[in-house]
Amino acid sequence: NEIYLQGLADRVPPFTTDATRLEAVAESTMDPGPFGYVAGGAGSGDTVRANRAAFARWRIVPRMMTGATERDLSTTVLGTPMPAPVLLAPVGVQSIVHPDGELATARAAAALDVPIVLSTASSYPLEDVAAVGGPRWFQLYWPNDPEVCASLLHRAKAAGYTVLVVTLDTWTLAWRPRDLDHAYLPFLRAAGVANAFTDPAFLAGLAKPPAEDQATAILRWVSLFTGTDKRWDHLPFLREHWDGPIVLKGIQHPDDARRAADEGINGLIISNHGGRQVDGAIASLDALPAITSAVGDRLDLLFDSGIRTGADVIKALALGAKAVLLGRPYVYGLALAGEEGVRHALRSLLADLDLTLGLTGHQTPASLTPSALHRD
Ligand code: FNR
Repeated sequence: NEIYLQGLADRVPPFTTDATRLEAVAESTMDPGPFGYVAGGAGSGDTVRANRAAFARWRIVPRMMTGATERDLSTTVLGTPMPAPVLLAPVGVQSIVHPDGELATARAAAALDVPIVLSTASSYPLEDVAAVGGPRWFQLYWPNDPEVCASLLHRAKAAGYTVLVVTLDTWTLAWRPRDLDHAYLPFLRAAGVANAFTDPAFLAGLAKPPAEDQATAILRWVSLFTGTDKRWDHLPFLREHWDGPIVLKGIQHPDDARRAADEGINGLIISNHGGRQVDGAIASLDALPAITSAVGDRLDLLFDSGIRTGADVIKALALGAKAVLLGRPYVYGLALAGEEGVRHALRSLLADLDLTLGLTGHQTPASLTPSALHRD
């Protein structure tokens, strides 16, 4: 309604409301390095494409006369109430697409009460982002220095992040031709080290402070996250230093999901990192049903990789996810129009989801089951 009413005054939205076209719009304005960083995938880009193709194979079967003209999309996941089953996915080094970076993202999300998941590789210190307010989870790239790890967890807890998301699929960066072709590694830029240069444990381990030798400090930080060999029996370390819910991100195999449930993990994010890690990997949506069968009743399942529209959210929820994470679309919003752009991308998805849920014949996301779908 808001958009149509503004249309009466000849005002149109800041950019397209069609998230599937957002990438092309962003490409026309962004520099190739940052654009390639956001859009790019592993290898040939096969998994990026597979993620989207998987959604098209599931079709929604709408129901009629169900009272869905009134809807309530709100839900609570791992103790966090949210207006709809949607969170913002962790995306590192956001200041490379807009100078306000994660601060703008956090402001847009907080205004809507939508939770953010802040990346370890954020370009603003996690305390500064927390100061914006709003519900927030912290994403950990698990460093191979236990003191730095404990320090990051302590800081995140103290700053009011309520859920720990541990990303397992990125213990090293994949072969990413777009970044390689542009010789563009955002994490090597000072922008990606905000949490390092504010971390007492990290700073204490340096021979010289960053002000005297910035290059060495950055390389040391990056090395903490490269080739990290983490095994299931390392999980108790995280429990020791984090007393809230723990979510593992990057799970695609039902056996890994079962193992996580056996270890007492509280939630999983079924994700292939938006196709950025394993070229040729299973589409994330195709991994979801088997994991739902394996552990859906034992821990909370969240989903990402390929979510663009309200219909996509409905499909993921019907296949067992309790909530989804939005990735690239909000980052393009940030690139195109800063805080207002994140807000527009996010509100567009939420409005599309609300309308599509209602027209599908559901009053709440909780009533979605596989019977809402037909597989082509
Ligand atoms: C990511 N992703 C990510 N994940 C994570 O755990 N920590 C991080 O720092 C990042 N950084 C990051 C940067 C960029 C530019 C992108 C596009 C993605 C992965 C992200 O959380 C999510 O899994 C994917 O973005 C989901 O795929 P779609 O929806 O973007 O296709």
